Amino acid sequence: MQKHLLALKDFERSQLTALVDRALVLKKEAAQGVRHQSLAGRTISMLFDKPSTRTRVSFEAAMYGLGGQVIHMSSKDCQLTRGEPLKDMARVLARYVQAIVVRTFGQHVVEELARYSGVPVINALTDLYHPCQVLSDVMTVLEKKGSFDQLKIVWLGDGNNMANSWIEAAAVFGFPLTLACPEGYAPDRRVLEAARQRSQRPITVLADPAEAVRDADVINVDVWASMGQEDEQEKRKQVFQAYQLNSELLARANREAVVLHCLPAHRGEEITEEVLEGRQSVAFDQAENKMHIHKAILEHFIR
Ligand code: CP
Ligand code: NVA
Repeated sequence: MQKHLLALKDFERSQLTALVDRALVLKKEAAQGVRHQSLAGRTISMLFDKPSTRTRVSFEAAMYGLGGQVIHMSSKDCQLTRGEPLKDMARVLARYVQAIVVRTFGQHVVEELARYSGVPVINALTDLYHPCQVLSDVMTVLEKKGSFDQLKIVWLGDGNNMANSWIEAAAVFGFPLTLACPEGYAPDRRVLEAARQRSQRPITVLADPAEAVRDADVINVDVWASMGQEDEQEKRKQVFQAYQLNSELLARANREAVVLHCLPAHRGEEITEEVLEGRQSVAFDQAENKMHIHKAILEHFIR
């Protein structure tokens, strides 16, 4: 197993399946009132350079829920802003804590921290990937549908960090994936090519949202402008209009299709209020599952 969790492509199917299976057990046991203490006496550092509600709180709740402790900071709080090199930061933090959970802009930042850190580095979102989120999404799909067999899984909208991690999940788990993205907003070309080479099943990028959603069993949506793209918000609202998941588009999917949204949602943009609050939406179970998968990740990576 890899020492760090930077991208889903670095893992085998059996390894990611083991994390999801463990998260399902932890969730069940927590509901039964079991008090876990597997990380008692351990501490993690959280270094977040972008806003977060779910990922921050679910990682912290996960760590405390396993008996451990958390130290949270942003780059503004530490000497990085005054020019301290990442490689020094990584080696220093590794002397104090047992893992470093990072949310930042460039994937190169988590890669450099991992290169120098003596403890695991966990990617809690970069511009390129959101691997922990997609693991909780995979957990949610398995919980709701039992297995990936025979499922049509669709990504609708921007070819962003979430789309890239879904593409890697498709390659690792071996399920087919259909994406519908506007021209100019396709997923990362290298991520797509590498995943297609690895996967036995098709990973298809279409432009037409109606065609993509037809007979779908799982539909994923995300914001049209990700963190760091605020300046493009107005332009993207126009480009992505046809990709809004509304009742009309959802009606083309299977009747029992589930709708995933990693949240935060912009109602009236990528998804309507009716769909997000409707019977097919599993967005809030998905949000809960972040905490359970983060427990499984922390338990696995912290030694
Ligand atoms: N889904 C997700 O990562 O949410 P936050 O940005 O609130 O952490
Ligand atoms: N694509 C979004 C995901 C937020 C959880 C972003 O990067 O802002």
